[in-house]
Amino acid sequence: MSKKETVYVSAGRKPQWTRGLVNPPVERASTVVFDSVEQMKHAVANKSKQVLYYGRRGTTTNFAFCDAMAEIEGGAGCYVYPSGTAAITTAMLAFLKSGDHVLMVDNAYEPTRAFCQNVLKGFNIDVTYYDPLIGAGIEALIQENTKIVFLESPGSLTMEVQDVPAIAEVAHKHNCVVMLDNTWGAGVNFKPFDYGVDVSVQAATKYIVGHSDVMLGTATANEKHWPVLREKSYTLGMCASPDDLYLAMRGIRTLGVRLQQHQESALKIARWLESREEVETILHPAFSSCPGHEMFTRDFTGSNGLFSFVLSKGNQAGITAMLDGMSHFKMGYSWGGFESLILAVNSVQSMRTVTTWPYEHALIRLHVGLENVDDLIADLSAGFDRLNAAL
Ligand SMILES: Cc1ncc(COP(=O)(O)O)c(C=O)c1O
Repeated sequence: MSKKETVYVSAGRKPQWTRGLVNPPVERASTVVFDSVEQMKHAVANKSKQVLYYGRRGTTTNFAFCDAMAEIEGGAGCYVYPSGTAAITTAMLAFLKSGDHVLMVDNAYEPTRAFCQNVLKGFNIDVTYYDPLIGAGIEALIQENTKIVFLESPGSLTMEVQDVPAIAEVAHKHNCVVMLDNTWGAGVNFKPFDYGVDVSVQAATKYIVGHSDVMLGTATANEKHWPVLREKSYTLGMCASPDDLYLAMRGIRTLGVRLQQHQESALKIARWLESREEVETILHPAFSSCPGHEMFTRDFTGSNGLFSFVLSKGNQAGITAMLDGMSHFKMGYSWGGFESLILAVNSVQSMRTVTTWPYEHALIRLHVGLENVDDLIADLSAGFDRLNAAL
C-alpha cells in the first residue's frame, strides 16, 4: 500500500476518469443521452456504480473525486453535498425515521446542534446531548430507539478529543450508527473506519478544498452503511458542481504538505502562547492541557492549524482592540484555507447543554495559515499589547 503523501497525489486518477490527462477533466452535464435502448438499460441497471446515467448521479469528475475521498478516508464509498452542513444533515436523515433518538456530542458544530433543535425535533426525533469525554459511559444514555451516536472529535471551539473506539463499541452493541464529523482529522490525521466509525462526514470546505473558495461536503461510509447513505442522499437531491469538485480535487494534491506546514506553525504558536501571561490555557489536542489529549496521542497521527486558547484577562474593549488591529489573522467563521483566521467567543456556555465551561474569560480560536510563522507571532504579540493597553 502506498504511503499517504503518494495517495494524495494519485487518489482518484484512474485511467477511465483521466483519459490520458493528469487531472480528471471538468465534465459538466445534466442530461446524459443514449443512442440505443440497450445502452440506456445498461445505464439504468448500473446507475449506482459510477456509470453515466444522469447529472445528479455524477459525471467522471464526481466519480474521480469520490474515489479519492473514499481512498483517503478508507471507506467503501463517498457521496458529495453542496456544503459540510448539507453532508451532516443528509447523512443523519438517511438513517433516521420518526420516533428515533439521537445521541449528539455537546461540543458539536453549532449548525449541527441547530439542525437537531430546529428540524429533527419537528420530525419527532429526540436528541440527547452527551459529554464529549463520556467514553464507554455513553451506554447509560442509549435508549431502545437510539439510532445514531454522533461524534465530533476534536469538538468545535473547545477541542475535546473523544474516545471514538470506546463509544463505537458500545454503540454497535445496541445497533446504533456511529457517525463522526471528521473535518479536523480531514481523513489524514484520523482514520475513522479503523476506530469503529460507520459514516465519516467532512466539511470539505476546509482542508480538502484548502483555498477558501468552495463550499463542499462529503460523507464516506463503510460497506454496511454505504448503500443506504448513497441512495437516500440521491433521493434527497444532493449533488455538487463539477467545477467545485475539480477545485477540491486540486486541493487534495497538496493536502499532505499543507497540513504538515499548518501543523508545524500552529505548534510553534501554541508553544509561544503557553509562555504568555495573557493566556490561561491552551486547547490544542497535542497539548496535555487539552481534554482528551491521551486519545489524541493514541489515535491521531498529527494535528493541523486549528486550535483554541483561553485568555486570562480581558473585557470587550480589550478584545475588540486586540482583534481590530490584526494584520494577518483576519476574523472569519471558516478555517482550513491557506490564510490565518481569528475568532473570539465570549459565550461558550450558551452553546453547551450538559457540560460546564470552567473559564471566566474569552476563548480565542485560531486558524494558523501558511504565512511565515514569525510574522504571525508578531501579529499576535502586537494584539496582546493592544489588549493590555485597553485594560
Ligand atoms: C467542524 C465543522 N463541521 C462542519 C462545518 C460545516 O461546513 P460548511 O461551512 O461547509 O457547511 C464546519 C464549518 O465551519 C465545521 O467547522
